[in-house]
Amino acid sequence: MTTTPIVLLHAFPLDHRMWDDVAADLGRTHRVLAPDLPVPVGEPLPDPSLEDAADHVAAVIRGAGDGPAVVAGLSMGGYVALALLERHPELVAGLALVDTKSTADTPEAAARRRSVADEVQAAGTVDPVRGMPDVLLGETTRSARPEVVERVTAWIGEQDPARVAWAQRAMAARPDRTDVLADFRGPVVVVVGDEDEVTGADSAEHMAAAVDQALLVVVPRVGHLSAVEDPAAVRTALAELLQRVHEPRG
Ligand code: MLT
Repeated sequence: MTTTPIVLLHAFPLDHRMWDDVAADLGRTHRVLAPDLPVPVGEPLPDPSLEDAADHVAAVIRGAGDGPAVVAGLSMGGYVALALLERHPELVAGLALVDTKSTADTPEAAARRRSVADEVQAAGTVDPVRGMPDVLLGETTRSARPEVVERVTAWIGEQDPARVAWAQRAMAARPDRTDVLADFRGPVVVVVGDEDEVTGADSAEHMAAAVDQALLVVVPRVGHLSAVEDPAAVRTALAELLQRVHEPRG
């Protein structure tokens, strides 16, 4: 077991379980930390801000006591990873940005999020986001792998509406953090499913171009939830990143 922990930050509207298949294998060689965002389930929610979620992740890394971590975030998890990098750069040894983007929402997208948050809160259920597997999963998964669709649908159905509304409001308020990424001097891998319709190739290329020597990995036949749809491919990309952290190149 090496000393660098790996932190896996989940997407919206899901929880740490979306990383289970990736974590199972990585856990043989690394300490894996997969916190629920923004705080453990059952704890009072802070005001909606990804910065608070990043501070919680910082506390988790410090609590593990093993020094800086490799941080991997998928979608919302990537937004939190960049907030962590801005606020606690000393805790980030390497960064994996998976099906995510470094830019802010347009005013229209932010307004849509706030209105979904209001709907979820008013309904007191996750009904307004229950259909999200249709956009989160790639066309190939949706048409050929019903068990994956079922699994993601079940996870969404189990979310707390208050946490779903929190996440939408927090994401709506996030700034563009491309500059934070560009200033990072550690190794970076950018991963994107080639059927990702939420944060696709353009977002991935934008992030990879901001960094010196980023590795860009395109995973075939998967959508936005690459870590669920093809955990082996994401694991391989993370293993390469861990290797770069342990044996930095010139
Ligand atoms: C996610 O997967 O975390 C969400 O799709 C992110 C977003 O809505 O921007």
